[in-house]
Amino acid sequence: MSSYDDLASQALAEIEQADGIDALDALRPGLFGKKAALTEAKKSLGQLDPEQRKEAGQALNAARQQVEVAFETRRGALAASARTEALEAERMDLTEYLGSASPGHAHIVTQTRDRLEDIFIGMGYSVAEGPEVESAWYNFEALNIPEWHPARGSFDTIFVNLGEPEEVMLRSHTSPVQIRTMENQEPPIYIVCPGRVYRTDTADATHLPAFNQIEGLVVDKDITLGDLAGTINQFVKALLGDDIETRLRPSYFPFTEPSAEFDIRGLDGSWLELGGCGMVHPYTLRACGIDPEVWQGFAFGFGIDRLAVMRYQTDDLREFVNNDIRFLKQF
Ligand code: DAH
Repeated sequence: MSSYDDLASQALAEIEQADGIDALDALRPGLFGKKAALTEAKKSLGQLDPEQRKEAGQALNAARQQVEVAFETRRGALAASARTEALEAERMDLTEYLGSASPGHAHIVTQTRDRLEDIFIGMGYSVAEGPEVESAWYNFEALNIPEWHPARGSFDTIFVNLGEPEEVMLRSHTSPVQIRTMENQEPPIYIVCPGRVYRTDTADATHLPAFNQIEGLVVDKDITLGDLAGTINQFVKALLGDDIETRLRPSYFPFTEPSAEFDIRGLDGSWLELGGCGMVHPYTLRACGIDPEVWQGFAFGFGIDRLAVMRYQTDDLREFVNNDIRFLKQF
């Protein structure tokens, strides 16, 4: 009978050592099959005399039952931990990604554009937009830049291979939006037109081949150069602070007469050129079906990226498009 105990404790040890369901199931024939030691022992009961047989039978049953219970218990435990492991391994993380403390923000140029729009909306203007691919009429002709005009050359235009040569282009300034607006809208007109423009420039610290301008256009009655100067002064102060001075300097643009460049003076006392402006040329008003004897207008245009450089004191325009997060997150 003590050999039954030995068989049982040997079986229990094997069960305990099985480190997985498969390993445990592989033990089943050896523990309970036809040739298993406990099965063999049962067969040999028949050789005992009846008295001994009863006692030995009970002991053998008890031993076998003990092994069966241990087997099932172990199997249950192994199944449970296998399931836990699988759940852990296959778990899908459906929690929202909150990342670091910084959720990101608008690009420095977008911030500058938004601020400019806000200022002009506050002055009663609306925001107008136009296509980035333009025809020669909108980009040049209606702006009093006919085909033979030297100013065409100064725009370093990127042409699109479509239609007649040099007929379709990426707009080289936002001034075409003036034309589109005047063609479609009766005066009085008070608009700003921000947007991306293109030129054949190679990227360097002060140039990008794709950059952003904002155009302003006013067409109303009795509009004078004084209104233009006052408007420029007003928005520059709203944007950069009351200490900033502005001035107009004589210049030339085909679509304005007279024309000027406008400069701003920073706290260090030096003058910086910001953009161009002038009184809308009668030719351009007429080209858009507006009678220059009744209506006058002024217009201005400048680079938003360059303004962002001044506003945020950066020193290389290329930083705006490099997508270096260390640069971008400073602003
Ligand atoms: N379109 C000009 C440029 O890109 C800028 C400009 C000058 C716009 C004078 C104007 C203006 O509206 O009146 O160089």
